[in-house]
Amino acid sequence: MKDLSPKPGDLSAIETASRDEIEALQLERMRWSLTHAYTNVPHYKQSFDAAGVHPDDLKSLADLARFPFTVKTDLRSNYPFGLFAVPRSQINRIHASSGTTGQPTVVGYTKADLAMWDEVMERSLRASGLRAGDLLHNAYGYGLFTGGLGVHGGAEKMGLTVVPVSGGMTERQVRLIEDFQATGITVTPSYMLSILDEYRRQGLDPRKSPLEVGIFGAEPWTNAMREEVEQSFDMHAVDIYGLSEVMGPGVSCECVESKDGLHIWEDHFYPEIIDPETGAVLPDGALGELVFTSLSKEAFAIIRYRTRDLTRLLPGTARSMRRMEKVTGRSDDMMILRGVNVFPTQIEEQLMKVPQLAAHFQIELVKKGPMDHMIVHVEGDSAAGDTLATLIKANIGITAEVRAGADNSVARSQGKAVRVIDNRAAR
Ligand code: DLL
Repeated sequence: MKDLSPKPGDLSAIETASRDEIEALQLERMRWSLTHAYTNVPHYKQSFDAAGVHPDDLKSLADLARFPFTVKTDLRSNYPFGLFAVPRSQINRIHASSGTTGQPTVVGYTKADLAMWDEVMERSLRASGLRAGDLLHNAYGYGLFTGGLGVHGGAEKMGLTVVPVSGGMTERQVRLIEDFQATGITVTPSYMLSILDEYRRQGLDPRKSPLEVGIFGAEPWTNAMREEVEQSFDMHAVDIYGLSEVMGPGVSCECVESKDGLHIWEDHFYPEIIDPETGAVLPDGALGELVFTSLSKEAFAIIRYRTRDLTRLLPGTARSMRRMEKVTGRSDDMMILRGVNVFPTQIEEQLMKVPQLAAHFQIELVKKGPMDHMIVHVEGDSAAGDTLATLIKANIGITAEVRAGADNSVARSQGKAVRVIDNRAAR
């Protein structure tokens, strides 16, 4: 793999600022953001008043814990523009969730918000090792989803050659990577596996591809998967995180030289980890639910947003801003089997230990009598399937039925993979 570590002068001043400098900036911006939300968004005025707090009560960063949380239903009940903190005419762009599981959630950006997004996205792309002049194959979906356009803005700002290919048409993805000699790719990790299959189907050696780094996010993936993708393509694989409610891709990103978790761009997004049951703020290092407060956004100021993503906060390493550990999963994706909590990432970790099985998987939950039963669908022969079942039992402590099918029997993702199919209500 090529050495993509930063050279002297590559980092902006804020990336190497002291903790004191970062925290002073955060406090100043947090005061502004709370006041901005309280003054301009009726929802925040009501929720702060109901909790008996006022933006002036914020004397230190820790005082944020006194303010109420924001949850997804707050976005839904203010559909479409009720949470915007500026008049609609000042909104420069809108993104939204697909709305397949209910009322879509809508977010907006002013011109200044888009410029900030470009800046943190550029920081993320640089952290992953890309430099002006590189060619980026951007296979995140373009449209209402924030992935495609979010990456695009930062990539153009930093002077990359961006190929806005979006998701799908896998054969063409491979042709363009090869013909245009892409050095970077931005895509979900699950779709990268489909691209890997396509390389092999076309008889091409993925290790000879021009790709030097992949920047993977929008869904959970494991270090075991990183190893698989890095070895298959002979390239670096780094993790990028974000969510529409807070901004989109580029809230945090790994550095290629350390690959030890994602540095949160804390000058714009203030993180907390809470106990998902009690809402209490947990100390750095503890595992819990990630909560974000925007510090500089104009259109969609968001205060203490509960992401439902489980991770922990860690001190800075390659940058002075704190890191978040790779996300274990969303609390919504947690399965409970005979009292044992299981996340799809834990199944992925075991699957990667069985080289005879393809890296694609899908979990189906069904009822077996009164009990929940897990079926893990994979591709390969039944002996390898049995090996996986044994590993799952030994390392996770649950009994899963592994069904090993033919090539292409597991549904392929073109964006975010659907890891769990819940058929427990089906007869
Ligand atoms: O997925 C933004 C994004 C696009 C991030 C491209 C990275 C790359 P949403 O569609 O709003 O936004 O989904 C946000 O996806 O709360 C997590 O549950 C999950 N997620 C995003 N990045 C990661 C990651 C985009 N690196 C939701 N690891 C979040 C694990 C992730 N989960």
